[in-house]
Amino acid sequence: MSITPRHPGEGPDVAVEAAAPTRGNGNGLPSAVAAARAAGQSAQHRQRWLPWVKAVVFLFALSPGLRLVAYGVMDRLGANPVEFITRSTGTWTLVMLCITLAITPMRRLSGMVWLLRLRRMLGLFACCYGVLHFATYVWLDQWFDWASILHDVSGKRPFITVGFTAFVLMVALALTSPHAVVRRMGGRRWQRLHRLIYAIAVLAILHYWWMKAGKNDLAQPAIYAIVVASLLGARVLWALRRRRAQTLAGSSRSPAKSDSTVSRSRTR
Ligand code: HEM
Repeated sequence: MSITPRHPGEGPDVAVEAAAPTRGNGNGLPSAVAAARAAGQSAQHRQRWLPWVKAVVFLFALSPGLRLVAYGVMDRLGANPVEFITRSTGTWTLVMLCITLAITPMRRLSGMVWLLRLRRMLGLFACCYGVLHFATYVWLDQWFDWASILHDVSGKRPFITVGFTAFVLMVALALTSPHAVVRRMGGRRWQRLHRLIYAIAVLAILHYWWMKAGKNDLAQPAIYAIVVASLLGARVLWALRRRRAQTLAGSSRSPAKSDSTVSRSRTR
């Protein structure tokens, strides 16, 4: 998700990677590398405030968990504390998922590339709330009755089957989010795997929808469904536009060149 590290192809390091070592600059450094390093350093200098933004976002993401703990301590979890905790953690898993999904569109619309630096943290928070949600179900709701849990997950309660599928995928994305794993997997494979965040969001909506459909109360799931559909729709639209631009660029080049462009774009 993104539960994501830096998007391959974005962020200050890219300039360094993209710079081809050419002629020296007298200091023993290839000039292009030196220029790219200087650009990276000035970007870092300009973004000295980023750790503060990260700290604020971290506290914001932590606050629903802290609120639950405070309510528990003050005995304010209501008449049915298990239901309160299950619903609260479920809601925050979904909210964090939506915010994580919104980062890329917000970056594209605003041009604020630094937003991508928040994505991995937000994705991991989504996963943490998912783990709390699942743990509440297994522990406080089912009291580790594995037979009953297996029944629910394997189809007796379809909304739980769907939620569990989303949860397993989300954990897979969280486990592959460290930089070391990205390097080992390779950017392209990693990116392909992390597109699963869209499938996770759709499954999460289905889980919520199914659960509320039994109670004839679809207003809130409908709002989340619209948000996720818009975020997904924007991505699809941009992908289609990019493909069209690539095709147009390919057809305006020489036949030999356009062949290689097409075969390259197919591997993306
Ligand atoms: C990505 C994963 C998941 C997301 C985003 C998610 C989200 C939600 C949401 C939004 C709710 C409704 C909250 C409300 O009523 O306001 C909910 C309820 C619930 N979820 Fe999940 N969930 C996920 C995974 C799971 C898993 C893995 C399980 C159990 C195996 C589970 C079990 C439940 C249960 C038992 C309820 C409450 C049903 C009730 O109160 O009648 N969820 N979930």
